[in-house]
Amino acid sequence: MSLTRLIYYSLRNPSVSADVPKLIETSIRNNRAMNVTGILHYNKHAFLQVLEGHRAEVSAIYHRITADTRHINIILVECVGVNERMFPYWSMALHEGMDDTTRSVFLRYFGSTKVNPETVGPQELLKALQELSADLKHNLPAESD
Ligand SMILES: Cc1cc2nc3c(=O)[nH]c(=O)nc-3n(C[C@H](O)[C@H](O)[C@H](O)COP(=O)(O)O)c2cc1C
Repeated sequence: MSLTRLIYYSLRNPSVSADVPKLIETSIRNNRAMNVTGILHYNKHAFLQVLEGHRAEVSAIYHRITADTRHINIILVECVGVNERMFPYWSMALHEGMDDTTRSVFLRYFGSTKVNPETVGPQELLKALQELSADLKHNLPAESD
């Protein structure tokens, strides 16, 4: 079965409460059941997400996500076949906020703390998320049960 990696970017919908802890709880439950893994970065402006798994499952979850009113301006950055997962450890990792480390990663890869999907490509997004995920490794035991 083919493994797929999907990357998208969206803006938080300012008129709908995001309730991110609840969102992650639901994501972990659903993704675990569908053998999908990945990472979600959330800050007060935007979401960046990577979903990895078999093509049909990634596609089904992505279609649900695009119908969600908690975000707007959803931009599909890339959806490609891959040989292995880049984020295999979490059903859905959450990296939240814009602390100094995050700000420096954003500035280095995106040239700004706001991602412009017209100028930022999949490689920059993946590298930035990989760096940000290094901070989350201490969550591994709880997530890999
Ligand atoms: C930014 C964002 C990321 C999301 N990521 C996921 C996800 O990885 N997996 C998932 O099942 N739902 C995700 N959701 C939630 C879905 O849009 C949807 O609410 C949920 O899948 C419904 O699940 P339920 O029918 O079990 O309540 C996300 C929503 C948003 C706004």
